[in-house]
Amino acid sequence: MAEFIPVPPFDLVVFGATGDLSLRKLFPALLHRFLDGQIPPQSRIIGVARSELDTASFRQLVHESRGKFAPGACVDEAKCSDFLQHIEYVQLDVSAPADQWGALNTALANGQGKVRIFYLSTMPQLFVTVAERLAEAGLAAPDSRIVLEKPIGRDLASSRAVNDGVGRVFSEQNTFRIDHYLGKETVQNLLVLRFANMLIEPVWSRATIDHVQVTVAEEIGVEGRGEYYDKSGALRDMVQNHLLQLLCLVALESPNSMEADAIRTEKLKVLSALRRIGPADAVAKTVRGQYRAGLVNGEAVPGYADEIGRRSDTETFVAIKAEVDNWRWAGVPFYLRTGKRMGARRSEVVVQFKDTPVHMFGPQAGAPDRLVLRLQPDEGVRLWLNVKEPGPGGLRVRAVPLNLSFADAFTLRYPDAYERLLMDVVRGNLSLFMRRDEVDAAWGWADELLAAWDALGGEPHPYASGSNGPTQSALMLDRDGRAWWDPE
Ligand code: BG6
Repeated sequence: MAEFIPVPPFDLVVFGATGDLSLRKLFPALLHRFLDGQIPPQSRIIGVARSELDTASFRQLVHESRGKFAPGACVDEAKCSDFLQHIEYVQLDVSAPADQWGALNTALANGQGKVRIFYLSTMPQLFVTVAERLAEAGLAAPDSRIVLEKPIGRDLASSRAVNDGVGRVFSEQNTFRIDHYLGKETVQNLLVLRFANMLIEPVWSRATIDHVQVTVAEEIGVEGRGEYYDKSGALRDMVQNHLLQLLCLVALESPNSMEADAIRTEKLKVLSALRRIGPADAVAKTVRGQYRAGLVNGEAVPGYADEIGRRSDTETFVAIKAEVDNWRWAGVPFYLRTGKRMGARRSEVVVQFKDTPVHMFGPQAGAPDRLVLRLQPDEGVRLWLNVKEPGPGGLRVRAVPLNLSFADAFTLRYPDAYERLLMDVVRGNLSLFMRRDEVDAAWGWADELLAAWDALGGEPHPYASGSNGPTQSALMLDRDGRAWWDPE
């Protein structure tokens, strides 16, 4: 078994403990860390929600959801029962005045010397209220930490209001804004690949790179989250955070160290250099789409409007030609694309290098080199290079991948992003969390594009569920003489 760096004992309070994210991601992640021996025995996990449950029935709920979301995790049932003993439940309506927070106060008694964490897996409208109540109830000690799930606001103004409100109680140093994409293994590997190898960095610029593609394609639709999603859309839900964070890690300059602020300052510089897209460019540089009925994995699925029960102009797909205006990246487009109900679940970053200056083996021989970083489903890195096809009878050149499949190279189970991120909160390591100025910069850019779309009006382009999105997305690249990398 791998050695895990121990973390200090902690009390973790999960608000919204009966919600989907908690049961699907947080508790399974904590269970895995527990089974790997990383959670010190004095630690407690306190679930808070409005549902009328007691600790025993909440433990039962966590136990049942484990079967669904962490099947196979428990080889040793006794150890899994041990995990449940660390969990308590407090029934609380967080909008209730602080004098009704006594039960949480009691649950947190005798927590001296432990790291205290409040994880807000609630509706974002409650973030400021919870922070204020924690202060009023005397629960937020100066070194307590708060974890905020996205979305943080729905534009720059509302995100500032949330950050201001939470910031009145918790310092920036104690505020952990989660973007779970930063916890994915391949995403962290991007930094390692770039800065722990001599081969990559010298070719990582406009001198050798033609363009970059970031694709996050999902098979799922809005899955009962229609009410939230319809007010949000793909730009707010995915691009403002996950895709821009990926772009930042591809584009950033070498940080001076792996310290959180060194990395976050470099990401901020990228976001500040991101060219704004106004009404004059939005038609040529962006595509909005919305899924219609179709087939995903051979199964018939309804269109977006049928799924949410009304007509809507919200985009479930977006493709953007983004540009980073600095010396390293001038003239290198970053094509971003994300959508729901696409043909296959696939997230990857493709770095396509320039064509060779001379075609010694004929104009059709081989293909430009590509570095493909696959985030999911099967994490790994592939470097596509041209080689000679074996055999006599002419010299045939073919692109084949140098395959760094993580599954082949490492036998470890692949931890979910939340496992890493939760333990980083306990350790106080902010490297993989967004600093406030990053969130502001990303919203500033997204707001301008949203305003441009508003000014232009019009509906999103339809695309069939199970496809690669609207044809306009392919045409956008085609106009630049390029194509999306969509391997069969
Ligand atoms: C979330 C979005 O942040 O990320 C969801 O709100 C999306 O709409 C999800 O489905 C995708 O995450 P993952 O890890 O499954 O790619």
